[in-house]
Amino acid sequence: MEAKLKKLLSQAKEEVKEIKDSQILADLKNKYLGRKGDLAVLLKDIKNVATEERPVIGQIANEVKKELTHIFNKLEHSINQDGASDLDFDPTMPGVKREIGHLHPNTRVQAEIEKAFAQMGFVVFDGPELESEYYNFTALNIPEDHPARDTQDTFWLEDNNVLRTHTSNLQVRMLEKYGAPFRGIFPGRAFRNESTDASHDHTFYQLEGLLVDKNINIGHLIAVMKSLLSTVFQAEVTVRLRPGFFPFVEPGFEMDIKCLVCEGLGCPVCKQSGWVELMPCGLVHPKVLENGGVNSQEYSGFAFGLGLTRLVMMKYKINDIRLLQSGDLRFLRQF
Ligand code: PHE
Repeated sequence: MEAKLKKLLSQAKEEVKEIKDSQILADLKNKYLGRKGDLAVLLKDIKNVATEERPVIGQIANEVKKELTHIFNKLEHSINQDGASDLDFDPTMPGVKREIGHLHPNTRVQAEIEKAFAQMGFVVFDGPELESEYYNFTALNIPEDHPARDTQDTFWLEDNNVLRTHTSNLQVRMLEKYGAPFRGIFPGRAFRNESTDASHDHTFYQLEGLLVDKNINIGHLIAVMKSLLSTVFQAEVTVRLRPGFFPFVEPGFEMDIKCLVCEGLGCPVCKQSGWVELMPCGLVHPKVLENGGVNSQEYSGFAFGLGLTRLVMMKYKINDIRLLQSGDLRFLRQF
């Protein structure tokens, strides 16, 4: 009987080797371990074994059952996991290349920029996307009747909060919390209530920067931005400043970069102008500093609102902003 049991075990081990299909495995398990399976049938003969030998045979039978159960369970597990049993794992076979995901182009550029700023001593902060009217507008010296508050552009909530229309909502929050000197960037989503087209989406990413210290001027802003842009584009970029109005900076500018697609000669990406508008910026308005509890006689600073989504589009030459949030794998797989 002992021999029969051992034979049963080795036979099962042999049979199980080739199995890759969970149904076949289940049938085989039943054949061996089922209520009317081979083991059960074999054990019926125990009554023919001499009484004094029974405990020994019983123990062997138990061990065989335990081992079979273990083998089947393990196989079930590995077949369910990847469709192949690890009993026939062959380390000399060529590997199976599985498709894995990768970072979204937006995430990748954001990480690059964060790294570049971290090297210049900026700390990365996160903040609320659901914001009060105060931090989104009032604290930033945006008057009540300013068109930016218009329902055309802003998603208003019933309780008078807003979906932040820009990452500038963090300027006063951060100054209140950390005071001066301050050096931080705030990447994140912003929302605008407008109809979408190839260059506008209701949800997009900005990367705000704020530096407050003694004797800060526009030269510092330009130096920081040029260093950043050459890191991102891996090339020396030419920038220009044009006057631009934002109630929370004085003076305010629009920073353009020379189009990298045509190198300034004129192309569809830069609308034939040779320049691409990339970043509104300026020196922090004294009122904003004061609203954040910072003495504007003692400190000055610069702020910028980098269009992260636009930068990604420039870098990868993407011609429709809506692709970025489409979740379309045909688009995403290209990066
Ligand atoms: N928050 C402004 C916008 O979204 C951009 C900006 C940021 C301008 C910082 C100046 C300084 O349009």
